[in-house]
Amino acid sequence: MSEPEVTPDAIMQLGLGFWGSKALLSAVELGLFSELAAAGPLEGDALRERLGLHERSATDFLDALVALGMLEREDGRYSNTPATEVFLDRAKPSYVGGILEMANARLYPFWGSLTEGLRTGELQNEAKGGGENFFEKLYVDPQRLAQFAHAMTAVSMGAAQAIAAKFPWQDRKTVIDVGCAEGMVPVQVALAHDHISGGGFDLPPLEPIFNQLVSGAGLADRLEFTGGDFFEQDLPQADVLVMGHILHDWGLDEKRVLLQKAYDALPEGGALIVYDAIIDDERRGNAFGLLMSLNMLIETPGGFDYTAADCRGWMQEAGFRESRVEHLVGPDSMVVGIK
Ligand SMILES: C[S@@+](CC[C@H](N)C(=O)[O-])C[C@H]1O[C@@H](n2cnc3c(N)ncnc32)[C@H](O)[C@@H]1O
Repeated sequence: MSEPEVTPDAIMQLGLGFWGSKALLSAVELGLFSELAAAGPLEGDALRERLGLHERSATDFLDALVALGMLEREDGRYSNTPATEVFLDRAKPSYVGGILEMANARLYPFWGSLTEGLRTGELQNEAKGGGENFFEKLYVDPQRLAQFAHAMTAVSMGAAQAIAAKFPWQDRKTVIDVGCAEGMVPVQVALAHDHISGGGFDLPPLEPIFNQLVSGAGLADRLEFTGGDFFEQDLPQADVLVMGHILHDWGLDEKRVLLQKAYDALPEGGALIVYDAIIDDERRGNAFGLLMSLNMLIETPGGFDYTAADCRGWMQEAGFRESRVEHLVGPDSMVVGIK
């Protein structure tokens, strides 16, 4: 039997993967998919003019997006694919481009210093070289705050729906999402379960953004915002506490403090749901989770992602009597600890 052929294809595809990634991010920045959703199929020239593009590379840009499966072209007219029509039109509630807008504006340039981050262990974002905490720096600018919160919602939408569907909510009455940002998790849980009330806890600048999402969903009578700093004060009490993309923002000492605070705030039998792109225990399968951990190097002073075994060990140290892990959607899983 002959040896399987060894080729550099996968290496080259990954190594130059940023070409395709940046083409998509620029398309989102330009509002290409929203334009096509509003106007329907367009000739190349008409589309180029609407987007304000120079003629030199416009056709290559659009056809590259066709080749990458992000646009369709029929008789010289461009249109969205079924997926870009649903998920990349800013006018639709199903829009997930928030995270891509943030990736384009912030993460793409900051990831350019990954090697420096790997050498120094220092973060590489706006807070590089000292100064304010990442969240403080981000939150002085309302536009960046809104962009960040929308990005969080885009990342967490699938997980929020899966948590609403998979956790046994029939046995619980109240939920507080700790570090809730816009509050997509309590909104999805309350929409799916009429008997659930509660809300979200986050830094005070998030309040108007939370209230907007909650009232838009018609849930203002069941969900409310509590402003505060989870390192400075006790967590609000509820039957279920949720921490999504919180633990990975912090180093091990802060992770332990937050888990202890959650334990202290829960009643006997209460549940803590931790969700993240939890890395598989073998640390070889969930590439997204491992790269998310590198993203925490770029974004935070000490944050890192972790395996379910890590999280369950920390929960046990905090006093949780049992814990389990359950897959949610895509790279995301939840670890549920019971007090
Ligand atoms: C990565 S976001 C996660 C948002 C949301 N849970 C999700 O998964 O989409 C982290 C959240 O923690 C909040 N946060 C950061 N430091 C905080 C603190 N000291 N006290 C309360 N919330 C904080 C941020 O404002 C932000 O909304």
